[in-house]
Amino acid sequence: MSVIKYVVCGIVLPFSGIILLVCGCKHDPAEPVAQMPISGDSVCFNTQILPLFVSNCTMTACHNTISRADGYQFTDYAGIKPGINNNKILKTIKATEPGDRMPPAGPLPAAQIQLIEKWIAQGATEKICANNCDTFMVKYTTHIASVISTNCLGCHSGAATSGGGINLESYSNVQSQTMNGKLICSVQQAGGCSPMPKYGNKLSFCDIRKLQLWKVSGCPQ
Ligand code: HEC
Repeated sequence: MSVIKYVVCGIVLPFSGIILLVCGCKHDPAEPVAQMPISGDSVCFNTQILPLFVSNCTMTACHNTISRADGYQFTDYAGIKPGINNNKILKTIKATEPGDRMPPAGPLPAAQIQLIEKWIAQGATEKICANNCDTFMVKYTTHIASVISTNCLGCHSGAATSGGGINLESYSNVQSQTMNGKLICSVQQAGGCSPMPKYGNKLSFCDIRKLQLWKVSGCPQ
């Protein structure tokens, strides 16, 4: 491949200095630079971090406003920050011994731990971002799975025992809870069913809209 590129560069070079630069960049061995976070790519507290804490840490008897286990309440920035400052949160989510690790039901997915680490490296600020609302052709894989994994799986997964026996890990489980009306009823928090996420803020208007549109279009995968 790269041999071919060099050949192409060699041919084009005599005609343009600009193309020489482009070719030079492509073959620059400093690959890792491309993997650095893009500037402006800073983590948002309200849309990326808080939902992870609410979903994974605020179950009954854990870090919610009522039980405040260990004195920690992970339902808002003021409650989370002390555990970041003393490094306890990072230490427990990365612990390898099940007895030391949080959440007790099982480790967070590696991508979520990396996101929390990135947020801490950027200063663990309370950055508030608008929720980009993409409701075009809503599908499970592109729109719905991420809403559920960010906000609900801490309680509603197979390993967790704190979701009232409801598992939301797969397409078919989410689909059946949507088609029976319970899921949308619960996220609307308007009565008639248990308000969800339990102990957490209501989902954004956009996320609720996605779920509604997904349901009317027959829950496409
Ligand atoms: C902190 C734990 C927790 C989180 C986070 C959570 N749930 Fe629940 N969920 C529960 C529990 C516990 C129940 C059982 C009913 C109760 O105790 O309120 C439940 C029940 C439900 C029900 C059945 C409601 C009913 O009235 O029959 C649905 C549907 C549901 N959850 C969906 C969700 C969705 C969708 C999310 C994410 C947006 C979510 N839950 C986040 C703990 C949680």
